[in-house]
Amino acid sequence: MIRVENVSHRLGERLALDGISVSLAEQRVGVIGANGSGKSTFARLLNGLIVPDDGTVTVDGLSTSREAREVRRKVGFVFTDPDAQIVMPTVGEDVAFGLRGSGLPKPEIARRVTEVLGRFGLGGFHDRPAHLLSGGEKQLLALCSVLITEPAVLVCDEPTTLLDLRNARLIGHLLGSLPQRLVLVTHDLAVLADFDRVLVFDGGRLVADDRPAGAVAYYRALMG
Ligand SMILES: Nc1ncnc2c1ncn2[C@@H]1O[C@H](COP(=O)(O)OP(=O)(O)OP(=O)(O)O)[C@@H](O)[C@H]1O
Ligand SMILES: [Mg+2]
Repeated sequence: MIRVENVSHRLGERLALDGISVSLAEQRVGVIGANGSGKSTFARLLNGLIVPDDGTVTVDGLSTSREAREVRRKVGFVFTDPDAQIVMPTVGEDVAFGLRGSGLPKPEIARRVTEVLGRFGLGGFHDRPAHLLSGGEKQLLALCSVLITEPAVLVCDEPTTLLDLRNARLIGHLLGSLPQRLVLVTHDLAVLADFDRVLVFDGGRLVADDRPAGAVAYYRALMG
């Protein structure tokens, strides 16, 4: 369970989040809203990338401010910009990096790397330089590098923006069938149709919290 209680957070001059309280326990939660409404700021709270100015965020009872390391192990985060996430020279090394210090034997790490790359359409990319992949391939790589650590919750901030139609569908399907709990920030409203719950942000406030149809209708009305 993720609990966000009375959270406000300032970024520069702006109140990016204004008095947010919400508890998330569902398998798949969508987050929508206008550009600049606070979605990415909210997403970053959930694994402690941002510690709120006011209020608290806990994940299964762990505080994102006091127990940041444990929270990060539980909550994986996929950035919109996949370059922000590439840390190693080759695709295989980048994915394996998540398992450093895991104590797993090397052959088992290699097996898991091959398995996850295959599952996300990157079989055959193992030895390619990571920074030379296309934008969409980098997004797929970013997902692999996070999922190999088997987080309990996956937070994705617009993970399909760079993907072509085939890969967007692949990722949509894979995200929908993950064992992980998922919090997905997206502008792709169709993807949310069978989600359990959708949050709508506007001007840093949580303005709707409903089943997908209700939340999407609210958002459409908001956008005029
Ligand atoms: N580092 C920063 N300094 C100042 N203001 C910031 C900073 N980062 C974000 N903001 C502002 O905070 C507000 C919320 O930003 P946020 O990135 O959470 O929006 P978003 O809903 O994710 O938008 P988008 O759909 O465009 O990704 C925006 O008005 C943004 O300009
Ligand atoms: Mg954003």
